Amino acid sequence: MDNVAHTLENLHTETRSFRPLASFAAHANATAYEYKKAGVDRLEYWREAAQRLAWKTPFTEILDWSDAPVARWFHDGTLNACDNAVDRHIREGRGDRVAFHFVGEPGDTQTLTYADIHERVQKAANGLASLGVGKGDRVAIYLPQIPEAVVAMLACARVGAIHSVVFGGFSADSLRQRIDDAEAKLVITADGGNRRGSHLALKPLVDDALAGHPEQGPAASVEHVLVVRRTGQDTAWTEGRDLWWHDVVDPQPAEHEPVWVEAEHPLFILYTSGTTGTPKGLWHSTGGYLTGAAQSHRLVFDLKPETDVYWCTADVGWITGHSYIVYGPMINGATQVLYEGTPNTPHEGRWWEIVEEYKVTILYTAPTAIRTFMKWGKAIPQQYDLSSLRLLGSVGEPINPEAWMWYRRVIGGDRCPIVDTWWQTETGSIMISPLPGVTATKPGSAMTPMPGVSIDVVDDAGRPVANGEGGYLVITEPWPSMLRGIWGNRHRYVSTYWNHFDGLYFAGDGAKKDVDGDLWLLGRVDDVMNVSGHRLTTTEIEHSLVSHPWVAEAAVVGASDEVTGQAVVAFVIVRSDAHGVPSEGSEVAAALREHVRRQIGALAKPRTILVVSEVPKTRSGKIMRRLLRDVAENRATGDVTTLADPTVMDAIRGGLEAGRAD
Ligand code: WT7
Repeated sequence: MDNVAHTLENLHTETRSFRPLASFAAHANATAYEYKKAGVDRLEYWREAAQRLAWKTPFTEILDWSDAPVARWFHDGTLNACDNAVDRHIREGRGDRVAFHFVGEPGDTQTLTYADIHERVQKAANGLASLGVGKGDRVAIYLPQIPEAVVAMLACARVGAIHSVVFGGFSADSLRQRIDDAEAKLVITADGGNRRGSHLALKPLVDDALAGHPEQGPAASVEHVLVVRRTGQDTAWTEGRDLWWHDVVDPQPAEHEPVWVEAEHPLFILYTSGTTGTPKGLWHSTGGYLTGAAQSHRLVFDLKPETDVYWCTADVGWITGHSYIVYGPMINGATQVLYEGTPNTPHEGRWWEIVEEYKVTILYTAPTAIRTFMKWGKAIPQQYDLSSLRLLGSVGEPINPEAWMWYRRVIGGDRCPIVDTWWQTETGSIMISPLPGVTATKPGSAMTPMPGVSIDVVDDAGRPVANGEGGYLVITEPWPSMLRGIWGNRHRYVSTYWNHFDGLYFAGDGAKKDVDGDLWLLGRVDDVMNVSGHRLTTTEIEHSLVSHPWVAEAAVVGASDEVTGQAVVAFVIVRSDAHGVPSEGSEVAAALREHVRRQIGALAKPRTILVVSEVPKTRSGKIMRRLLRDVAENRATGDVTTLADPTVMDAIRGGLEAGRAD
């Protein structure tokens, strides 16, 4: 409970509360009735939610929990995810509605209606089928944030294939690990993407991933690489294996009958950091997942599909992009902005320029972005007309009350409700959030569980804590969009999530119930770090550091950071027998940072690397990260009595100045 205790101390007592405006409540999608309905009969509530989807054959059973903790929801029904997200809108006469206003980083734009997407997904599905990709096959998608990423995901779903999207910021090694684990048959990529005014290559990384290291050899499962031309960069070509998207997809007929799948058929795998070194391939079902994504999107974002312009700034490579760009919003028929670039390319007002130009009404982003805008100053957003906005969302990490208030005042003009949404890759959809128009909000609190979701905060023994107390966040009943497992590893699924507390899903987060029973999320209590809303583990970065020939030992902690929430700080011990180690600590740090970038990806690069002579350990040899976090956050060192050698902390603090390199 190290982390929890620490954060609890620092959590200031928030007394502000913002009641929903009557004008908003009068037209809100959500009403208090939702909670009531779910409270009276949770399963009936979910049955109604699932029935909003288009089913090929209706389901008769809601939940089968006989194989707990593996759930089956709506299992005897059949449907198709792409049919729900696209075809249904065509059938019901909404083909002319804009699905995406795509904004490329260099300023190129595309307007795509649901009918356009319909045509594209059918051609892409025929293209996949022509490559022998069918039901149950795995497809790795490694693309920039461009329309083809959405089309590729939906086309996989259409043929019953299971997509595994790998965020474009991951390295060749990380991509390879994910391709091998899922035994992907096809990789869909692009020549490159646009990043801060230059071209970022992707295809060469796929080539490296597939070739592998000498001791590893080529990826055995991959038959083809399908390459979207985005930047026009030259790229090496492996004849027979590599194919251009436009050659394969464009000539296909624009008619394709979706492959109807059982509700429990896997829709996708998404890899995420676990507490051990290897990423976990979490997999989600079709019927239950779509039910959770669509229902939560409609209620939390209050979507009015005819008039709203919705913008979720996440990348489709993360769960937020899966649930709240692709599946939830598209099932609900939303008109969205899809933006390829970064917030400050070509200038720091870029996002607000987009909000003004497309009259965005609903914005969903992360606290780290909000804090960055705070740093840049309110004068920048104030140059733009943000009056179209009517609802603001936050996700990915705890939002501090200052950032919450700034978001409300400067971006939302004091009129937009804020929904702070807590959930995880594992939960598939939002689990804790205010409902706009219903819930009075407190700055920094995610407030209350969603209707139909059962959450509690428990102590070490798994007993619910009283209001005003903190503990571990757990989910006490199965929910439709819950992960169905870790790809190929039932044992790891059970031991990771269900073994901490009997019969309860352990989320890995600390939380507090305030005196009113509202929930405050306090960050992870395990070795998972949250850097700019990206999930990383201490062990995966430690493994990478010790694989460098100079490093004897490494200990990594997540230290709090004003902008990114947490930042990676590494303590390394250099091998005494290593050759060619620079004498300057800053040069050692630079080389090791580059090493981590190459192995895992830029997102994992330590902010600070400290060269030290020892790391603090217990008598049983466990690294005491709590003490390292004290050092990284410039605090007095806490209790050292369990250290094998209590003097080690003095040595570490003494060695800092020489080795510090930001
Ligand atoms: C972890 C899950 C869910 C999409 C993005 C991250 C943290 C997420 C919040 C929030 C406090 C939050 C938790 C969680 N987290 N949203 N609103 N308030 N913490 O998905 O990569 O699976 O990470 O992100 O620690 O366990 P993810």
